[in-house]
Amino acid sequence: MYRLARSLRSSRSFSRALSTRASNVLSALGLESQGGVLPGVYTGRGWGGTGNVVASKCPTTGEHLADVTTATPAEFHSVIERSREAFHSFRMLPAPRRGEILRQIREALAAKRDSLGALVSLEMGKILSEGIGEVQEFIDICDYAVGLSRMMNGQVIASERPGHTILEVPNPLGLVAVISAFNFPVAVYGWNLALSFVAGNATLWKPAPSTPLCSIAVTRIVAEVLEKNGVDGGVAALITGGHEVGEALCESEHVTMVSFTGSEHIGAKVGRKVQGRFGKVLLELGGNNASIVMPDADLSLAVPSVFFGAVGTAGQRCTSTRRLYLHREIAPRFLDALKKAYAQIPTGDPLVSSTLLGPLHNQNAVKAYHKAAMHLHEVGAEILVGGKVKHPSGFDQGNFVEATIAIPPSQDLDLWKRELFAPILNVAIFDELDQAIEWNNSVPQGLSSSIWTKDIRNIGKFIGPSGSDCGIVNVNVGNSGAEIGAAFGGNKRTGWGRESGGDSWKQYVRWSACTINSSNEAPLAQGVNFSL
Ligand code: UN1
Repeated sequence: MYRLARSLRSSRSFSRALSTRASNVLSALGLESQGGVLPGVYTGRGWGGTGNVVASKCPTTGEHLADVTTATPAEFHSVIERSREAFHSFRMLPAPRRGEILRQIREALAAKRDSLGALVSLEMGKILSEGIGEVQEFIDICDYAVGLSRMMNGQVIASERPGHTILEVPNPLGLVAVISAFNFPVAVYGWNLALSFVAGNATLWKPAPSTPLCSIAVTRIVAEVLEKNGVDGGVAALITGGHEVGEALCESEHVTMVSFTGSEHIGAKVGRKVQGRFGKVLLELGGNNASIVMPDADLSLAVPSVFFGAVGTAGQRCTSTRRLYLHREIAPRFLDALKKAYAQIPTGDPLVSSTLLGPLHNQNAVKAYHKAAMHLHEVGAEILVGGKVKHPSGFDQGNFVEATIAIPPSQDLDLWKRELFAPILNVAIFDELDQAIEWNNSVPQGLSSSIWTKDIRNIGKFIGPSGSDCGIVNVNVGNSGAEIGAAFGGNKRTGWGRESGGDSWKQYVRWSACTINSSNEAPLAQGVNFSL
């Protein structure tokens, strides 16, 4: 049951003028609300939403960017209804035609790539280059899915019965809900939309409550292309809101699949709810990723990559490097070089091109960082760099923290086992690769892992059956920054989901095994005789 979203922070409309910084980004995408409220619900028949209002707040300055309306319970049901209706006509469109429309969406996104990237940077807080990279990732998956629209092949299988043929046929699934997280407010939706769209589904997006502007900007771009092509916009519907909307989507019998990206805690609830009604679920949950550096590693590559993995996106990627296992032989050299890099991290406004470390997304993340840093002190960890909340000049309302490197005193501590969305890198020193692999695999999550070595034997071991148990296993490549070509996702408590490339598309269709008899007999399989 949908319940009123009372817990959503309701905010008064604001009349204060926006800073030039924010106004430049918002006006490039027509998102300035000028003291009013932006509608956050799109059904294919215009924009609306008369429910609670959510605020978008800039993590860098604390500035109130806009207010956005969400759906009432009645509107929620009509969004679902509209999307179902849109699905019924969309599924009849040939897949290559859907691909052609997606190609136009790709072009429309590419035309606004840099403005959208700036919006990601403004609203989420990641640096501009990563914000643009995220939009590029959406563009890339569109390219992939356009090709796929002519290659979503089933199979023809040899039948044991004369005159019989067996086909495996993919057909559209129905309504796919995408519940996405704040840290990739554009790309994760893109991965899902592109595949779901060419597969012939209606996709309904519920973004994180704190990044509604990114979702409105993207949906407007997609909607314009759909409308131009005479396609019912209900195939790319948007419903902003809080956890109540997410719960309602998980519970709705009309939602065939829920693709959820977020925490393990919420993912477990989503999984149970959707499974409880035998819906399909795709989970992309916590990452607690390690890099292993062997003595023969090329440190001129490994150090900058670990630096990016741990500090990039302020440690707020699912794939961020949180654990670093250094071989004893190179540990001092590696840490010296890494500390040098940490000593000069340009911190500040993520929209300024020289910045490498922007703010955390919200105050709760700052609190979690502070708590983790205090805990490292309490357990007697050696803090090599950082450990403190930061207030760069001019940004006293921003959510800034220092990038941190720590050496915890033992492997038996719980802190190794948790995902924390903050730039904290915990380091341990090993003597044998087997030990490092055991540590790599000793956490509940299984998203991304990486080894730095030139020795083919180490590589073979790491990617083989006694190697890393993660969904992403990299060699001389850092933990984060995967391309869209391969399936993306993790094992164990990361949820086993796969999105983006590889065979991921196969989850967005329903498979039918069709046996066709074109003979004059109707024999039973396995030679079973059932004649009177
Ligand atoms: C995520 O953090 O949820 O591999 C997604 C990466 C990006 C996607 C991360 N391509 O880091």
